[in-house]
Amino acid sequence: MVTDTHDPGDERGRTDESHWWRNAVVYQIYPRSYADTNGDGVGDLPGITAHLDHLEWLGVDAIWCSPVSVSPNADWGYDVADYCDVDPALGTLADLDAFVAAAATRGIRVLLDLVPNHTSIQHPWFVESRASRESAKRDWYVWADPAADGGPPNNWVSTFLGPGWELDAATGQYFLHSFLPEQPDLNWWNEEVCAEFDRILRFWFDRGVAGFRIDVAHMVVKDALLRDNPSATERDHWMEQLRGQVQEFNSCRPEVHDVYRRWRAIANTYDPPRLLLGETHVFDVDALASFYGHDDELGLAFNFMFMHDEFALDRLRATVAETEAALVADAWPVWTMSNHDISRFPTRWCNGDDARARCALVLLLTLRGTPVLYYGDELGLPDTVVPDALLRDPVTIAYRGMIDRDAARTPMPWTAAPGGGFTDPGVDPWLPFGDLATHNVADQRADPGSTLHLVRALLALRRSTPDLRAGAYADLSADLSAEADAWGDAWGFRRGDHVQVVLNVGTEAVTVPVAIGDGVVIAIASDRVGEGDTVGDSVEVEGGRAVVLVAGVGPAH
Ligand code: NOJ
Ligand code: CA
Repeated sequence: MVTDTHDPGDERGRTDESHWWRNAVVYQIYPRSYADTNGDGVGDLPGITAHLDHLEWLGVDAIWCSPVSVSPNADWGYDVADYCDVDPALGTLADLDAFVAAAATRGIRVLLDLVPNHTSIQHPWFVESRASRESAKRDWYVWADPAADGGPPNNWVSTFLGPGWELDAATGQYFLHSFLPEQPDLNWWNEEVCAEFDRILRFWFDRGVAGFRIDVAHMVVKDALLRDNPSATERDHWMEQLRGQVQEFNSCRPEVHDVYRRWRAIANTYDPPRLLLGETHVFDVDALASFYGHDDELGLAFNFMFMHDEFALDRLRATVAETEAALVADAWPVWTMSNHDISRFPTRWCNGDDARARCALVLLLTLRGTPVLYYGDELGLPDTVVPDALLRDPVTIAYRGMIDRDAARTPMPWTAAPGGGFTDPGVDPWLPFGDLATHNVADQRADPGSTLHLVRALLALRRSTPDLRAGAYADLSADLSAEADAWGDAWGFRRGDHVQVVLNVGTEAVTVPVAIGDGVVIAIASDRVGEGDTVGDSVEVEGGRAVVLVAGVGPAH
């Protein structure tokens, strides 16, 4: 158990090495877009290894790398043709080993992306499965006879919209694809599939990989009877309304928890235990909480309610409060604002406003829970407008105007020079650069007032301040109802006894009570003004500004 008496983490779950991820800051890398070392315009594993200096300097504890496994790239790595090898465009298994080892020497752990819901249509398992109804691997995928009218076996639709079933004319049956037709769903009722994934987990864990982000973790097991989903009503989430149905029978099935209990048992045989971080795309906190089990399933389960909220403090406050209430001692929150599937937060939440983006970063890095930064978040990087002719994501191309994933997948801007420090000058990157002049690592590193330095200071403060990692969360703006007017557009919360955060995203200054005792200083301000200043019983925070107050200790630099 926790030995640090200053650390109230023991009230809300363990924060020792057996749950190392609860103390960690995770950084997601989209490998095709981080750094290209061989001049083909595509980021690669040696490129990530070459930039570990940046991540060590920033102070991240773990990297989650989007898929590096062999893929025909119908869905850029999320259609896997070999789970135990590296895609040649990204490097070799030796490059992966070198990356994991080099990261370890800097105290950085590496998580890979595991895609258990489906394979590529080109995976040898599926090629064998579709060869005949008698194939030894037929049952590894979800095959079903046509309905009486010859149509699909049930009403399930693809997450990417459109039918969820594809007819295989040669064998006269349909196969299920919860995403693209090039991504057939595995059948998790088949014990051989389960055993094969046990082997895949161990293959990577044995190589020193610290865990997995699990793709579409909520959908892996389907209803054994393939029952029709009910229609969505106007009370259901907008995404369900868009699909026209509630995913009652192809998502969040009770048996999915057996899979994660099985995997957690494997993960816990390693030292340190390996992390299972689920992409749990669910719409209520109770469903989210279920994926943690009794600390015997996922170690962390992504919170999409937070990411899909508007950047309206009332909305976010409510989601944080609901999450805090639902995730009790066995479960630990994880917060993220951007990833490779959604518009970047400086655009989506902040409309390009730098001051608001800095406030959002203060929020992400001061909530109770594990923060996950997406590459470029540390620069406040906005979306890149990708011209139609240069789009690469089939889903973006199919749903132009509705879904835009390429805008958030463009190359990391390292410098303002031609090639952006990402690739050789004159080489066309696989997706176009954004505005290299306005956001790049080199310029922000040279500017102590930059967003990059703010993020680094927040990470350093987390490391030196136990309350910021594990202290209980208390929403001050809700508690102090008598002072409600004083809070205006501000959100204040306490972390343990020694830290208070105030975010003011309005335009008017607010003066709010300080609720953490004596010797309080502004440890970090989003605009870096006034850091180290002492504050008394109240603090004034101007619009578009956030401050982190710490009692009884000096500012962290
Ligand atoms: C979620 C991934 O994040 C997304 O990029 C992918 O298209 C789907 N899962 C299907 O694997
Ligand atoms: Ca390359």
